[in-house]
Formats: sequence, structure tokens, C-alpha cells
Amino acid sequence: MSKYIINGGIKLKGKIRISGNKNSILPCMAATLLTEEEVVLHNVPHISDVEIFCQILQTLGAEVTWTDHTVKIISKKITESVLPKELASKLRASILLVGALISRLGKAEFSHPGGDVIGRRGIDQHLMGFEELGCRVQVQDNKYKVTKISNSNSNAKIFFEICTVTGTENLILASVLKAGQVTIKNAACEPHVVDLCKMLTLMGAKIEGIGTSTLKINGVNKLKGAEFTIGSDYIEFGTYAIAAAITGGEIEIENCCDFDEDPIMWPLLKMGLLIKKQGEMAKVSVKKLKAIPHLVTNVWPGFPTDLMSPMVVLATQAKGVSLLHDWIYDGRMFFVDKLIAMGAEITVADPHRVLVYGPTKLRGRNLETPDIRAGMALVLASLVAEGQSVIDRAELIERGYEGVVEKLTLLGADIQKLD
Ligand code: EPU
Repeated sequence: MSKYIINGGIKLKGKIRISGNKNSILPCMAATLLTEEEVVLHNVPHISDVEIFCQILQTLGAEVTWTDHTVKIISKKITESVLPKELASKLRASILLVGALISRLGKAEFSHPGGDVIGRRGIDQHLMGFEELGCRVQVQDNKYKVTKISNSNSNAKIFFEICTVTGTENLILASVLKAGQVTIKNAACEPHVVDLCKMLTLMGAKIEGIGTSTLKINGVNKLKGAEFTIGSDYIEFGTYAIAAAITGGEIEIENCCDFDEDPIMWPLLKMGLLIKKQGEMAKVSVKKLKAIPHLVTNVWPGFPTDLMSPMVVLATQAKGVSLLHDWIYDGRMFFVDKLIAMGAEITVADPHRVLVYGPTKLRGRNLETPDIRAGMALVLASLVAEGQSVIDRAELIERGYEGVVEKLTLLGADIQKLD
């Protein structure tokens, strides 16, 4: 277990570089199982979720080499169709290997995937989709076995009752190879879904409607190797922009490319952040923070749930009352008790909605990280709080954010990590 020790109250200043998107790299790594040829991925973030994913791929038989921010994967001999239980239980994205293994081997076995505890995280839509593709799904004692019965269920139609990110990615992975024609409706179109489709297209997949909610896939017989650069992490961009704003600082953020910034930018601008973007560089400062009357998360291009926890911290420093609403996860808002303990004035209306009254002075506390995003929100709160905060279970934050201590130190923050 590691902890961060943060002495708050310093205005952040300086320049940092945004890393590759965690939620892009994991599906793209799963896609490397679809070819025997080498796949090279650039702009890979150094985060523990990627380390675990590399280990799972190795267990399945892939050769993985990771140097600096580049990962090379050769999946020449893949014979193992059972996901290693302990490793797979560490992250939700391990479920993506099921779609990839169905394409590659026609079968996969796994236990219910793990990941952040932010509410119910069902996989019924994934299983429904596999059945539509002609797979038999057997479930016993939380263990799943998916077996492809027919090799080309031509003209499969999948309609997602719930718009699901990994569900969409999983069904794309299961459809691009030897699956006839597949139409996916109410598909998620987050930038990471687009990254996966672009990479698969480079590998020779036939996908129409990329970036929209209807995807038409024509399964091909073989996919080839490719070289692909992972898009920038727009959640990380939003997080550091908030860090600059709440501390009254002024920072420059490099590598802000390859994402449509509107869903992130509009609430930040509305709350008083000044963001000047020029090419891949953004300058962030603040004049006066003001509350946002109602911010609600949505599927892309709506405001992303993964930035909601940092937004709660931003609202504690903004003048007025903000109503923040996340309907996607039952437990996203559960961390606000820790902000209240730091001095924030927050009314929990119900599990999905909080009213934040600002601005309030926060005081440093001993805190524990509940999940990646709430953990990073606690880091933000500690940066603006008076006195010292100690954040336990910091390793959870590092599942999704690269070089937190290094980047914040570059910006002048007083932060140390103890292992
Ligand atoms: N859902 C179901 N059944 C399903 C699939 C989803 O009920 O079969 C529900 C979930 O329980 C949830 C909602 O639908 O309430 C949305 O879930 P979705 O499947 O879209 O989420 P996910 O694919 O599990 C990904 C990201 C999350 C991000 C969400 C929403 C990855 C690896 N994870 O999760 O990222 O919050 O999409 O955008 O891509 C994070 O990065 O911290 C993180 C949690």
C-alpha cells in the first residue's frame, strides 16, 4: 500500500504532458490478439492497469515488450481460452479479452470481471451480444463460458438496451473476424471506442459508422499487424485543468490531441476556467470560479462520468450552488463524505445527485482512496486544502493516472509518495 502526503495551498504553475488514454489502450491491447503479426502501440501510459493487462496477455501466450511509452505485442500462438482469475479480477477491462478470444479461438472462459467499486457493473449486454453473434453462453457460480457455435452468423443485429462502452468494444472485437455482417445499434461512441475502430481498420477490419451510434461490421478472414498511436487522455486533461483552477494557478498542458474537447470544455468554461487551446497545447488559468446550476453526466458526446468526481471538488471552490448529477453509476458520489470531512458543504440529495455550496475552505485530513477517479478528486481537494493531507491506497489512483507525483511536482505542488 502506498500513500501520498500533500501540503496544500500552493498555486500550480508550469507545464505538463498529458498521457495516453487508459480506456483506449486496454481495448487496443485486446485487439492485438486478433492477428499473428506484430502490433506496435505508441503513447502508452505507464499505469498499473496496463501492467496487469500485459501480464494477462502473456498468460494467454502473447509476447509483450514494453519500452518507454511503446508496447510491442506478438500473438503468434494463442491457445489459452481461460482468463487468469486473479489478474482478470483486478480490472473491468479484462472482459474485453472475451470478445477478442471469441474471434481468435471461438471460445472464452472467465469469472465476473473486477474493477472500481462505483456501483453495479453488469455484463448482461455483453452476453446478449455474444448470443446474437451465434455463441452459447453458460453461466455457473459467477463463472462464464462463451462458445461460438456457428462460424458466420451472417447478418447479426445487436441492439444495446443500455449504451455500454466496454460492451460496444467487446462486440466489435468479437465481430471483426469471421463473423459475417454485424450491425450494432445504440453503440457507445466515446473517443476510446473510436480509437479501437481506427486501430482495427489499420489491421484490415471493415467497420462503417465509426464515431456514430450505429456500427456496421463486415467480418474479414484475417487481420494483419499495425502501428497505432493511442489518443490523449481527456479525463486527465480535465483533471489537471481543475487542479490549476482551484489553486488559482496557471499551467500549460501538452499533448491535448485527438479528442473532441467540447464535452469537457463547456462546463469548465462555464465555471470560469480560462482555457486557450493552440494545436496540441492548452493554457489554463482562472478568473473567478462560479457554480454550475446543473451538470449531468451522459454517454459521449455528453459530459463523461469519469470527470464527475473532480468536478465536485471544483464546485466546492466555486461561488454559488452547483447541482451535480451522475445517473450512470450508483456509487460515483459516495466519496463526498470525505470532502465534507475536509470542510466542504455538500447535501447528498440521493445516490446520484449532490448539491455543492461554494466556495468553502477545505482542511487537510487523513483520507483513503475509494476508486481511481474519487482518489484523484481527493488529491485535488488536498492541493487546495489548508495543511497536510495523507491519502492512503494511492496505488488505486495510479491504476489510471500516469506519474501523478512527478506531474504535480513539476507544477510546484508539495506532494510526496511513501510506499
Ligand atoms: N451496464 C449494464 N450492463 C452491461 C453493461 C453496462 O447494466 O452489460 C451498466 C453499468 O452497470 C453502468 C452503465 O451501464 O451503470 C455504463 O456502463 P459501461 O458498460 O458503459 O461502463 P464500462 O464499459 O464498464 C467504461 C470505462 C469506465 C467509464 C464507463 C462509462 C473502461 C475500461 N471503463 O466502463 O471507466 O466510467 O465506461 O464511460 O473503458 C474509469 O476509467 O475510471 C472508469 C470507470
